[in-house]
Amino acid sequence: AMESGVAKTVITDWEAYNLELQERIGIDQRLMLRVITRARKDPKRVVFAEADNVKILKAVQLLRDEKVAIPILLGNKQKINQIIEENNLDLSGVSIVDPYEDEERLKHYGGILFEKRKRKGLTPKECYRLMRDRNYFGSMMVELGEADALISGLTKDYPKTILPALHVIGVKKGIDRVAGMYIMNTDRGPYFFSDTTVNVDPTAEQLVEIIGLTANGVRFFDIDPKVAILSYSNFGSAKGSVATKTAKAAALAKEKYPELTIEGEMQANVALNEEIQIENYPFSALIGNKANTLIFPDLSSGNIAYKLLSELGHAEAIGPVLLGMNKPVHILQLGSSIREIVNMVAIAVVDAQTQDQL
Ligand code: ACO
Repeated sequence: AMESGVAKTVITDWEAYNLELQERIGIDQRLMLRVITRARKDPKRVVFAEADNVKILKAVQLLRDEKVAIPILLGNKQKINQIIEENNLDLSGVSIVDPYEDEERLKHYGGILFEKRKRKGLTPKECYRLMRDRNYFGSMMVELGEADALISGLTKDYPKTILPALHVIGVKKGIDRVAGMYIMNTDRGPYFFSDTTVNVDPTAEQLVEIIGLTANGVRFFDIDPKVAILSYSNFGSAKGSVATKTAKAAALAKEKYPELTIEGEMQANVALNEEIQIENYPFSALIGNKANTLIFPDLSSGNIAYKLLSELGHAEAIGPVLLGMNKPVHILQLGSSIREIVNMVAIAVVDAQTQDQL
């Protein structure tokens, strides 16, 4: 009886949400279904830094039952088991790791962090202490291959969650920054927004790097990126630092990625409306190449745009997909829904599968 209760709680949520979405906006779910199907072919070990949370555990129930991932729960065993019981979940067989429980492991991990950070002002003692933070601990599990991906961020602000991962795992070789991309699944199809979560005020050169990372991120979803670099100006029509920066980024990016369709700088409505381009900017590379990848000049515009669209528009926001980390780490938006967590885990699993092929 308890088991059917379990399945019902979770699947009812899921179906109700799907139905509601379909009725409300009729959004095509194929993009995420493809990712989930791919994840299920080769589920990977995903460590949850915030496992003492009911939403995480409900998502874990679904992920385990549907064989999307092999979850590893980080946190206090008693507390986790209590939430499992109170919510009629069945997570038997899922491993729970309590960072406080294993002194030897903390010391070992602390030593490795010290080696990485000893010339960045950290002492062995501080490294040992930091390892009790589950974001450090979980990142170290991924770094050492004891897990394939880390999911965190549901309950803490973004900077607090990303810094441990940057310190322990770091960025991919040849790259010097990471960026966060959102998939805005709209009734006009999927659009990719970047950088929406990390770089506060990137320079033109940093925007070029963000464009490269984002283009790869779009290809990850089997979609061909068509990039628009957004501003409040169109091709030099207005002055100001953002206009200058984005114009420079457009010129540099076209040079650096000749194979990629890139246009800018341009206003958002121009980027998304071919008729305006044909009439006023007939040279635009996006005519006949519908823009699907929007690059924002800074964090405030990117972050505000995606949040406005997800609250007011006909769109489901999927992400943020963290681009450029050396191993799969994805940081949830504060307060994500169960469905959003499941989506991010599926992306993390496919991300981990892709790492195998590198
Ligand atoms: N990519 C890669 N590494 C980075 C980046 C980056 N974008 N930014 C900083 N780092 C590295 C630095 O190189 C440094 O490495 P080191 O210690 O080995 O030298 C380390 O991270 C720390 O650098 P700091 O300059 O001390 O870090 P900073 O204080 O700039 O913090 C952070 C970095 C947390 C990413 C910061 O830029 C930030 O707070 N960004 C905004 C995050 C945010 O609030 N987003 C909005 C909400 S998210 C949402 O809505 C879902």
